[in-house]
Amino acid sequence: MRKIYLLLILAFIVSPNAAFAAAQTKQAKPESNAQRQASKSIPGVPALVLGVAWYPEHWEEARWETDLTLMQAAGINMVRVGEFAWSRMEPQDGQFDFGWLDRAIALAAKRGMKIVVGTPTAAPPAWLTQKYPETLATWEDGTRATHGNRGQYRITSAKYLELARRLAAEMAKRYGNNPDVIGWQIDNEYGPVSYDAESRQQFQSFLKSRYRTLAALNKAWSTDYWSQTYDNWEQIPIPVGYHNPGLMLEWKRFGSEMFRNYQHNQIEAIRAHADPRQFITHNFMGFYGGFDHYLVAQELNFASWDNYVGTGHLDPVRKGAAHDLTRGFKRKSFWVMETQPGSVNWADVNNMLDRGEVRRMAWEAIGHGADAVAYWQWRNALGGQEQYHGSLLGADGKPRPVYDEVAELGREFAKIADAIKGTSPAPQTAILYDYDSRWAIEFQKHNKDFDPNTHLQTYYRPLRQLTQDIDIVHPTAPLSHYKLVVAPALNVLPDSTEQQLVEYVKAGGHLVIGARTGMKDEHNALKPSLQPGKLLSNLLGGEVAEFFALEKNVPVSGALGSGEAKTWAEMLRTSAPDVEVLLKFGKSNGWLDGQPAVISRKLGSGRVTYVGGQFDESIMAGLSKWMVEDAGVKPALGPVPSGVEVCRRVSHDKELFILINHSPEAQKISLPAPMRELLKGSEPAALLTIPANDVVVLVPAGK
Ligand code: GLA
Repeated sequence: MRKIYLLLILAFIVSPNAAFAAAQTKQAKPESNAQRQASKSIPGVPALVLGVAWYPEHWEEARWETDLTLMQAAGINMVRVGEFAWSRMEPQDGQFDFGWLDRAIALAAKRGMKIVVGTPTAAPPAWLTQKYPETLATWEDGTRATHGNRGQYRITSAKYLELARRLAAEMAKRYGNNPDVIGWQIDNEYGPVSYDAESRQQFQSFLKSRYRTLAALNKAWSTDYWSQTYDNWEQIPIPVGYHNPGLMLEWKRFGSEMFRNYQHNQIEAIRAHADPRQFITHNFMGFYGGFDHYLVAQELNFASWDNYVGTGHLDPVRKGAAHDLTRGFKRKSFWVMETQPGSVNWADVNNMLDRGEVRRMAWEAIGHGADAVAYWQWRNALGGQEQYHGSLLGADGKPRPVYDEVAELGREFAKIADAIKGTSPAPQTAILYDYDSRWAIEFQKHNKDFDPNTHLQTYYRPLRQLTQDIDIVHPTAPLSHYKLVVAPALNVLPDSTEQQLVEYVKAGGHLVIGARTGMKDEHNALKPSLQPGKLLSNLLGGEVAEFFALEKNVPVSGALGSGEAKTWAEMLRTSAPDVEVLLKFGKSNGWLDGQPAVISRKLGSGRVTYVGGQFDESIMAGLSKWMVEDAGVKPALGPVPSGVEVCRRVSHDKELFILINHSPEAQKISLPAPMRELLKGSEPAALLTIPANDVVVLVPAGK
């Protein structure tokens, strides 16, 4: 026991530096299509997966056959099982009972279903937390988690890690070589960290491993400020509420490292017994900001996420961005491990999606590079906290209305599985995103209405419409194959990353730098230079002379159009004669009046542009059009009416377009070349009409 604990502490100490150093020294190299594909090379995984979360433990075994028959009839080819069933798998400490799961898996396999097994560690059993209360989390307000919900465990608890590891190993011995089990999901939607005394000690060890000396830490965090100076590691607190920005950022990094470690613990246990053919993934939550997803996803075969609308309806741009973000965690295609069959139960108003909307959501996911869409859930348990949630079967065990829509997807997926196999999106434009910058801004918004994710959307929305495909990647990702790279708010910009951006421009790329970029170093301290940093300022021939949190909008106009700055503006200063001023601020607070708002400089075949503010749709439309044209980015397909979303997936010998008409009217499309439609099976044509709320899948004639 003691040995395991020591090993875990050692892992905390050794790995963070390695992980952060690796992230910082990664060199850019072009990506191949093969690298971008998630499950193409995983034997036994269908090219397109249509799945459900199935909880056989909620039902009498006599019912299972009926459920599987109904699934099969809908074209469902995957079930995810097990992810909350710890109390059934291990009813008492060390006593395992997998008989029921063996039978459920065997029955599903008999129906041709592939199985993803979830480790049930998001919901520890009552005996566990009663016997080992130290495994329960302490929340930020100091209260202790209690049994009966889920996610109440403490990710830093050595005992919890030991028990989770033992269970994962038992599961892997049982299912790791089962030919129908294609992969694993570790835990479920990683959530909060714990604020207990032991986590605090581990945080202090983490800091020690990163800073080595207190002198280095004190310097990096400017602790002379307000007498924060530490002369003993044990004095360092867990930040609660507003605190030192360096400490706050490290606490987030520690949490990320803890989740990486928590996950690694189970991956190691599974890999020791499982066939390497089986994949390991986790179901993330889109733009959830609790931890650094790039770090946590490192050890997974591919990322998955849970795609829920909640109140309201599908916003294809917001959801599209979340798909692209998830694809970017591993820079390869991904899975939608859960999505809503109609409605949820946790939003303010749990409205039903309109007829046809579930189908559009599924196709949008596939278009953005998902190789699987799985519904949560098959059938609601009669009791438990989620009785009202959407599902495919009703309380009577018979199909609900949405079942037919999913069955339609089943038929469609089967039709295009061959055509889509091995393909993935391959955009020419990248938006850079990182958690350090997001957190640094969230800690000190300066304007309560400046949200880093909303800011990203101000770029993503017009650019997605113009380019028809975008990658969202970490700033240290390889960039050289992109024609256009946009960094909306890279607030924390270590010198090494700044250097990489400079090299991208020198090699001929067009870099667009957005407001608040290049202000902080890796410790979340102000850089001793003005934005966007010394190297980028030199390259740009300009810098940010002052920044302003705006109380009211400021007019902006120039060669690219006119509109307004909202929430944020930066007064730019040029220092080289060849810098172009593309937009200027109008009358405002006196400081901004007539000052440059967007500047740009051409450098050989490259270009760097600085955008000094958060701008409205009108400015962003003009600016985006200009940057796309200047960078030579061509739309994936070509002009389409508004309301139609274009997605493109390619491989070395395939090209496929998915067009989704999100509008309530039929839309006419003129294609750049004749194409065949695969869902309804048309002859090649260059003109087509997509009915309202409908989807077409096109391949160029001759392919
Ligand atoms: C999450 C969880 C599921 C379920 C759904 C309901 O995504 O992973 O277990 O609770 O929410 O929307």
